[in-house]
Amino acid sequence: MSADSQLHIGVIGAGNIGNVHINEFKKLPDTKITGITDVFLPSAEARAKEHGIPNVYANYEQLLQDSSIDAVIVAVPNQFHADIAIHALKAGKHVLLEKPMGIHAAAAKAIVQAHKETGKTLMISHQMRWESINQQLKEQIDKGALGHIYNVKTGWLRRKGIPGWGTWFTQMSKSGGGPLIDIGVHMLDLSLHLMGNPKPVSVFGTTYAEFGPKRRGIGTWGTPDWNGTYDVEDLATALIKMDNGSTLTLDVSWAAHTDMLDNQPYIYLMGTEGGASLRGGKGKLFTEVFDRTADVELTQPANDAGPRVRMSRHFVDCIREGKEPLTSGLSGLTNNLVLEAIYESSRTGNVVTLDWN
Ligand SMILES: NC(=O)c1ccc[n+]([C@@H]2O[C@H](COP(=O)([O-])OP(=O)(O)OC[C@H]3O[C@@H](n4cnc5c(N)ncnc54)[C@H](O)[C@@H]3O)[C@@H](O)[C@H]2O)c1
Repeated sequence: MSADSQLHIGVIGAGNIGNVHINEFKKLPDTKITGITDVFLPSAEARAKEHGIPNVYANYEQLLQDSSIDAVIVAVPNQFHADIAIHALKAGKHVLLEKPMGIHAAAAKAIVQAHKETGKTLMISHQMRWESINQQLKEQIDKGALGHIYNVKTGWLRRKGIPGWGTWFTQMSKSGGGPLIDIGVHMLDLSLHLMGNPKPVSVFGTTYAEFGPKRRGIGTWGTPDWNGTYDVEDLATALIKMDNGSTLTLDVSWAAHTDMLDNQPYIYLMGTEGGASLRGGKGKLFTEVFDRTADVELTQPANDAGPRVRMSRHFVDCIREGKEPLTSGLSGLTNNLVLEAIYESSRTGNVVTLDWN
């Protein structure tokens, strides 16, 4: 760490989410973004100018060679996550890695291995775990309010939300998949966390591509490249079974003819003592007392600072205190194993057992 005790951070990938991270870390006085790089150098230069970042590097290798940088944010397309995260860990940097951890499970396993060898902090960026309502619910779950959670329904059905048609987002070789790996990974991650991290063991799922190939269902995230290609799904549905007998159903789309829950993410948890729902930024707890149903609303505090700054704070605290982040390498690998099994189940038509080896 630098003499001024600020954590010096380098940003790899100056695109949309790289910029979001910069804005959040700027709120933490004990950190400083000191370097940035992007394969498209003008992007890195523009962000550096916008945010007063002192150093722009020609490539990520050069950034990693700078010994004054303590930690990096990896915010590049999914296909590069593993190479860059492994390189960064081996260069002695702590890593905040965007989701999904890997483009596939083998990539995630390689990152976990590098993490074990280096012992640096590795955290996957799943900001939904730091939403105030979600944190309040987790607190109640940890106190036993829901008992054993045996069934969960989660999803995020967007009606018209294909991001960056034709860019890396919609090319299997660059993204690893469509909405399942893009937004489904958030819902899977949050659900497993709330369920107390049971071990997923088998999966049955199907994916569809009814909009993307016809250039329909286009959303607002990213700029389309009409010369590009679309070879990923636009809807996925799956049933996931855990080693403790509990079940999770996951439904996600970038595009579908539906207005389910106003296209907002949702989770319904059903436990032996109580249940809960999260939807549209609101939370509710359900139980039965004196033979009658009883509900409690969870409310967002006024002037809430937001999930992303809490996530950034957690990353820094984990580095300083040598703690394992909540969204650890193991949680990222678990998500990747489940997602891969869903794709395989869709391809083969079979129930797929997760490959934990
Ligand atoms: N946590 C979230 O809510 C969230 C939201 C959006 C995106 N993401 C994730 O963030 C990552 C980036 O997504 P985005 O929307 O910012 O994409 P983007 O296309 O806007 O930005 C990616 C940037 O990476 C650069 N880049 C590509 N290869 C590089 C390399 N080898 N070295 C350096 N820079 C490189 C590109 O030029 C581009 O500027 C993806 O993994 C995506 O899944 C997460």
